[in-house]
Amino acid sequence: MSSMGMRGSARGTVDASLHVPVRAAWRGVAGVLVVLVCLLVPFCALSNTMPVARPDSVVVARPHGLRAQMPAVTFVHSRHGHMRCGLCHHTMESLGAAERCSSAGCHDMVAPHCPREKASGRYFKNAFHDSPASCRGCHAERSAEGHNAGPVACKGCHR
Ligand code: HEC
Ligand code: HEC
Ligand code: HEC
Repeated sequence: MSSMGMRGSARGTVDASLHVPVRAAWRGVAGVLVVLVCLLVPFCALSNTMPVARPDSVVVARPHGLRAQMPAVTFVHSRHGHMRCGLCHHTMESLGAAERCSSAGCHDMVAPHCPREKASGRYFKNAFHDSPASCRGCHAERSAEGHNAGPVACKGCHR
């Protein structure tokens, strides 16, 4: 009984002397773990959503009912390699997938009937030519600024 008490108190003394540094050390380790987790969680979240299989060359789909005036356009992803997917696939972050430009409710209007419809973003043709994030719009802006760019002339894309 008394020897147990002795041992107990001896251990108590050792523990007491180690108490603070051991705790501090663990707090340090915990801190490092928290930092690692904070760094890794967004990384894992990204790596889950990033690798969407992507065809290199894709014929841009045309909406149902289009009476085309121009030859169809083939888009090549690898020639646009460093761009953020969401620049073109601007619904990708909310949907987690690349949609067709001409999906229902998107740029699916084939024949505008009035000036308002003709100016609408839903008019299929409008999605590809004028805005800075569109095909021709980006090429035109970049070449005006003296950067490398894709074609601006109709036949460069419609061939
Ligand atoms: C410069 C514009 C642009 C960028 C940047 C871009 N894409 Fe695309 N992508 C397109 C176009 C245009 C299509 C054809 C869409 C259509 O047919 O309506 C397409 C098609 C796709 C398709 C096929 C969709 C289907 O329904 O068959 C996938 C998947 C895709 N892209 C993934 C990606 C991923 C992933 C990235 C980023 C790493 C990316 N794209 C970057 C323009 C782009
Ligand atoms: C944000 C800017 C940007 C957008 C949007 C963009 N492009 Fe480009 N495009 C470029 C740049 C920059 C190059 C030149 C790449 C190079 O020099 O390799 C290029 C190159 C091209 C080329 C020439 C490729 C070749 O093989 O020579 C074509 C064709 C083309 N783009 C079509 C498109 C089409 C179609 C779209 C829309 C679906 C589109 N681009 C959207 C910037 C853009
Ligand atoms: C940088 C690429 C690019 C250039 C340059 C370009 N277009 Fe387009 N255009 C597209 C894409 C992509 C589409 C949608 C896919 C398709 O129709 O094949 C489109 C669609 C169209 C459409 C609707 C579809 C149809 O054929 O009726 C018309 C009209 C059109 N373009 C006319 C023109 C004219 C005219 C020029 C020259 C003044 C031009 N485009 C230059 C990329 C381009």
